[in-house]
Amino acid sequence: MSVRAGILATLKEKQGDWVSGQTLSESLNVSRTAIWKHIKNLLEEGYEIESASKKGYRLSGPANVLTQAEVGSGLTTQLFGRESYFYFREIDSTNNRAKALAAEGAPEGTVVVADMQTAGRGRRGRQWFSPFNQGIYVSVVLRPSLPLREISRISLVAAVAVAETLREEFGLDALIKWPNDILIDHKKIAGILSEAVIDTVGLEYMVVGIGLNINQDLSQFPADLRMPATSLRVEKNQAVARVKILQSLLLSLEHHYLRLLAGDFESILIRARALSMVLGQQVRLETAEGFVIGKAVDINSDGYLMVVNPDGSVQAVMSGEIDVV
Ligand code: BTN
Repeated sequence: MSVRAGILATLKEKQGDWVSGQTLSESLNVSRTAIWKHIKNLLEEGYEIESASKKGYRLSGPANVLTQAEVGSGLTTQLFGRESYFYFREIDSTNNRAKALAAEGAPEGTVVVADMQTAGRGRRGRQWFSPFNQGIYVSVVLRPSLPLREISRISLVAAVAVAETLREEFGLDALIKWPNDILIDHKKIAGILSEAVIDTVGLEYMVVGIGLNINQDLSQFPADLRMPATSLRVEKNQAVARVKILQSLLLSLEHHYLRLLAGDFESILIRARALSMVLGQQVRLETAEGFVIGKAVDINSDGYLMVVNPDGSVQAVMSGEIDVV
């Protein structure tokens, strides 16, 4: 076991009680200065460790580190993040890395997580604000055998999973702004970027990227965001540990995804409709084919938004930028 791992294991074993530098140095057979250097690194990684003279060190809070060791120890998924989990302290974009891994053959359920993204991507070429240690930036490789017409279902699976995680873990009234935004009281707390790679025979793989605002302050968000943002910290008025949320999020995502694969999209659709904040509203959609204006009345069995145009005709919209008007 490395010195770093030894320090962590001892501190965890003590469950918040103090361990002296002397004890650590003797049991791990290194100097007290070496122990202190490792503690400094652990603090930088995001571990909450208190130090006090004559007492030593103790863990003063849950680990805020999304490494495989931390996340994997309480992860109850069957597949997602089990065998194939990639953690980066800093990366350009977890979606980019997940796509590169998938292209090299990474299996379904491969998870890519970063503590910071230098080029986090949102939909429509936007940036995703990804400051160090303050959000969850995660991408999952999926290899569903779905006809291309049905790939929008995956976005709904992800949206329902994120909204339900926020509802169940935090009691928040998270709603889905079709197709990919998760809002609390009209403020965006999470976004989903689903990317499909298609070959000559159909869908090769998909990468579902989720960005969830956790510990950002309102003042940190860029001023030019398309809609107001919020974070869990703002909503709950306290700092929130990310490990547990990521575990719950992966579990929920896997649960709904497996349901989809088992042929039960209907129950996901029912939840998506119930959690939708656009159904029944007058909307304006910017799509690849132009603007659609009308009343959003349903989400159909492919995950498309059904809009009644002013002339009474009904239009199915696969994807677009939506505003409630
Ligand atoms: C949006 O609302 O526009 C979608 C935002 C998606 C952001 C996530 S963060 C993890 C993953 N990696 C990226 O580069 N983007 C997604």
